[in-house]
Amino acid sequence: MAAGYAGPRRAKWFLSPVASKKYNVRTAVENGLPVTARKDKKEEGDVMVTLNINGRDMQVDADPATPVLWALRDNLNMTGTKFGCGAALCGACTVHLNDQPVRSCVTPISAAAGQQITTIEAIVNDKVGKAVQDAWIRHDVPQCGYCQSGQVMSATALLRTNRKPSDADIDAAMSGNICRCGTYQRIRAAIKTAAETLA
Ligand code: FES
Ligand code: FES
Repeated sequence: MAAGYAGPRRAKWFLSPVASKKYNVRTAVENGLPVTARKDKKEEGDVMVTLNINGRDMQVDADPATPVLWALRDNLNMTGTKFGCGAALCGACTVHLNDQPVRSCVTPISAAAGQQITTIEAIVNDKVGKAVQDAWIRHDVPQCGYCQSGQVMSATALLRTNRKPSDADIDAAMSGNICRCGTYQRIRAAIKTAAETLA
């Protein structure tokens, strides 16, 4: 019987109450910070899942309940997408699924198979994503940077459907992306600059 995804294994364990209940995800904490560990052997319930990531089919040998975030970071070593809360609360893990922003920490690979996943590593290949990244650089948006890949993914998704977002549109689209460094004003300015570039 397929067991739920047990998550990366390290000495100290922290159970995210929301994620662990819904997805049986465990999160390791070292020195007070969440960390991930690469899975080094096949486990009971693992199956081969093909994920289309940034235009390429990639094989992931994992439990189907594994969140896309862990498949990216642990199985494929694509660490641009960040882990924050593991419970769809912070937006750090945002990727695009068929051009729609989703929280990869709560999206199982079984639901992403056969869909188009885009991550921060390839967003520059997209016209809108490139405009967003250029604007981010111009406004020197990041502080610590941890939340910023998720911010860029959400901003790109917004500008794909709304080329002239108001402050309210930006606030609504970006409300699920938390920045503990408080870069919100620069994020808003950068989105407006990117919109002007794309006009
Ligand atoms: S890590 Fe996915 S929303 Fe926070
Ligand atoms: S730049 Fe530090 S959390 Fe956003």
